[in-house]
Amino acid sequence: MAISSSAMALFLFLLLCFSFFSLSHSLRGFFIDCGSTSPTTHGGRTWQSDDGFVFSGINKNVTGPVLDPTLSTVRSFPRVLNRKFCYVVRPVFRTRRYMVRTTYYYGGVNGLDSPPVFDQIVDGTVWSIVNTTEDYALGLTSYYEGIFEAKARTMTVCIGSNMYTDSDPFLSALEVVTLENSLYNTTDFNNYGLRLVARHSFGYNGSNLRHPDDQFDRFWQPFGNSSGNVTSRTVSASGIWNLPPSKIFETELKTDKLEPLELNWPPISLPGPESNFTYYIALYFANDHASSSDNLRVFNISVNGIKYYGDLNASSAGHVVFASQWPLHGLTNITLTPSPLSKLGPLINGGELFHLVSLGERTHAKDVVNLERVKESLKNPPPDWNGDPCFPHEYRWTGITCSGGSRNRVVTLNLTNMDLSGSLSPSIANLTALSGIWLGNNSLSGTIPDLSPLKLLEIVHLQDNNFSGEIPLSLGNIPRLRELFLYNNNLAGEVPQSLLNKQLNLRIFPGNHLLAPPPPA
Ligand SMILES: *[C@@H]1O[C@H](CO)[C@@H](O)[C@H](O)[C@H]1NC(C)=O
Ligand SMILES: *[C@@H]1O[C@H](CO)[C@@H](O)[C@H](O)[C@H]1NC(C)=O
Ligand SMILES: *[C@@H]1O[C@H](CO)[C@@H](O)[C@H](O)[C@H]1NC(C)=O
Ligand SMILES: *[C@@H]1O[C@H](CO)[C@@H](O)[C@H](O)[C@H]1NC(C)=O
Ligand SMILES: *[C@@H]1O[C@H](CO)[C@@H](O)[C@H](O)[C@H]1NC(C)=O
Ligand SMILES: *[C@@H]1O[C@H](CO)[C@@H](O)[C@H](O)[C@H]1NC(C)=O
Ligand SMILES: *[C@@H]1O[C@H](CO)[C@@H](O)[C@H](O)[C@H]1NC(C)=O
Ligand SMILES: *[C@@H]1O[C@H](CO)[C@@H](O)[C@H](O)[C@H]1NC(C)=O
Ligand SMILES: *[C@@H]1O[C@H](CO)[C@@H](O)[C@H](O)[C@H]1NC(C)=O
Ligand SMILES: *[C@@H]1O[C@H](CO)[C@@H](O)[C@H](O)[C@H]1NC(C)=O
Ligand SMILES: *[C@@H]1O[C@H](CO)[C@@H](O)[C@H](O)[C@H]1NC(C)=O
Ligand SMILES: *[C@@H]1O[C@H](CO)[C@@H](O)[C@H](O)[C@H]1NC(C)=O
Repeated sequence: MAISSSAMALFLFLLLCFSFFSLSHSLRGFFIDCGSTSPTTHGGRTWQSDDGFVFSGINKNVTGPVLDPTLSTVRSFPRVLNRKFCYVVRPVFRTRRYMVRTTYYYGGVNGLDSPPVFDQIVDGTVWSIVNTTEDYALGLTSYYEGIFEAKARTMTVCIGSNMYTDSDPFLSALEVVTLENSLYNTTDFNNYGLRLVARHSFGYNGSNLRHPDDQFDRFWQPFGNSSGNVTSRTVSASGIWNLPPSKIFETELKTDKLEPLELNWPPISLPGPESNFTYYIALYFANDHASSSDNLRVFNISVNGIKYYGDLNASSAGHVVFASQWPLHGLTNITLTPSPLSKLGPLINGGELFHLVSLGERTHAKDVVNLERVKESLKNPPPDWNGDPCFPHEYRWTGITCSGGSRNRVVTLNLTNMDLSGSLSPSIANLTALSGIWLGNNSLSGTIPDLSPLKLLEIVHLQDNNFSGEIPLSLGNIPRLRELFLYNNNLAGEVPQSLLNKQLNLRIFPGNHLLAPPPPA
């Protein structure tokens, strides 16, 4: 198999044997108990109710007992194909990385035996499909974890129905944890996110390792047969960029004979070659003997028979060997082959595997800001108006269309007959790529804003609303305007002369209190 060397770029980090005394072990982030109405304390932290993070969906109670109080309620969203419903998490810090974990426990909330299958979306990117069918049948809770960089002061995590969704999608808990910048930092977070596939502590047989052992509350699952507990190591994991918990170095998979150690890990089959997925792999090692010429453990590491790293001289201080973009499919095997220099057989303590998720596009930032302001001035904006307006493309907001190309501008706004009330924000005039605005047959009130900055605007339908005040003179300054419907509002005053002088399909009657314009020439 031919693989470009850049795709297989490998790194080894030798641990420095000192501790960072300023290291903070307190967990920072957002812990949201979806569907609950009051805060709860569980697992050493306070879970907030989701009020204030989400503006759609309803609370439902799970029937029957649950293992963890955060699972007893869910927030349930309407099943509408390709509409996304988002949690908006703020404040986050642009360019910082966050671990996002979603937890799902169906608990029969929709009355059907099996849970719905649906999409989860971070900002403009479909992060993964949520399929908890198998876990739920086994009575288990499902969680999904990803690492994403914040691209703005908010991060959005959304749920949406796809063609497989057969009942209302839901969410039990959402966590967004602030990470140190050194974690997984060889990843190009401008273009990729990481979706967790497996994270294991090898030779460990207890319950998941997590906070406070892991300062970011990453879950390290047990893997392989117990090796008992090794205490002769001097690992200070604070020197390894990914900051694994030092507890993973207390157990291992190993052979003391001078023979290869092979493990089939991760314990699942990855999607086939046609999916062309690449992975971030980090493998963790620490010798269980103090370094001396009698205790050398030197070995080569290969993944599916392809050389991953040569002559790793395992010290008791610990190492991580990682690859940032490694292609994998199907079952994976990792083989550790002792070198002739080695006095003892190979060993391994832990591993992490993430799928690299290509980040989707995002809507032009100014359009997002101004569309948000338009939303704020509506009393009852469409319930899916959260998250990125244009992306993922199939999940764009109700009533908008977007340009293709690199700029991703909002080009039309059509909220005809949506039962909207409130007013039309002047910020609509900052959506400068708009060519059409259809807001007919709603209950919008207030004045018509100055739309003259919209140089591409051709069609404006504001008929059948409660707009009042005068018709703005500036409407006459829009070069391409060819259709303006204003009938059935409460507009008063004179019809601007500038609107009567051109090839404009102007409809202002019936229903206003305007001084009649002179008959057309
Ligand atoms: C869920 O349970 C709580 C308390 O047990 C109750 O107050 C609330 O009304 C229930 N909600 C629904 C939607 O049934
Ligand atoms: C969901 O998972 C179940 C069990 O693994 C599988 O049978 C089913 O086909 C999956 N559904 C979808 C839509 O992928
Ligand atoms: C990753 O973080 C480590 C520790 O802070 C730093 O030494 C290293 O240069 C960083 N690497 C990249 C690619 O940013
Ligand atoms: C675990 O132990 C069992 C029985 O001793 C053995 O059959 C199995 O291969 C071992 N698994 C691993 C991963 O070492
Ligand atoms: C874990 O392994 C240790 C050592 O082999 C053993 O004593 C213990 O019973 C095991 N615990 C579980 C939960 O399997
Ligand atoms: C190993 O033993 C130490 C000391 O007895 C204990 O604190 C630690 O929890 C054990 N680690 C594991 C992974 O069992
Ligand atoms: C697979 O991915 C690589 C790198 O991401 C890309 O260059 C290549 O064209 C892709 N191949 C296929 C068949 O999609
Ligand atoms: C390990 O992977 C290599 C390369 O894919 C393959 O040739 C070998 O048969 C595998 N071994 C096992 C035990 O799966
Ligand atoms: C291990 O890797 C080294 C250098 O990368 C190579 O020279 C050696 O032949 C390899 N040993 C085995 C047993 O594959
Ligand atoms: C392995 O590292 C130890 C110190 O950790 C050193 O004494 C020894 O020479 C090294 N051996 C090889 C083959 O690199
Ligand atoms: C605007 O939306 C309404 C209602 O969904 C639809 O009937 C109408 O065709 C749309 N108009 C345009 C120009 O897309
Ligand atoms: C339009 O955008 C400009 C700068 O981007 C801003 O200063 C102004 O306040 C915006 N106008 C409205 C009405 O939001």
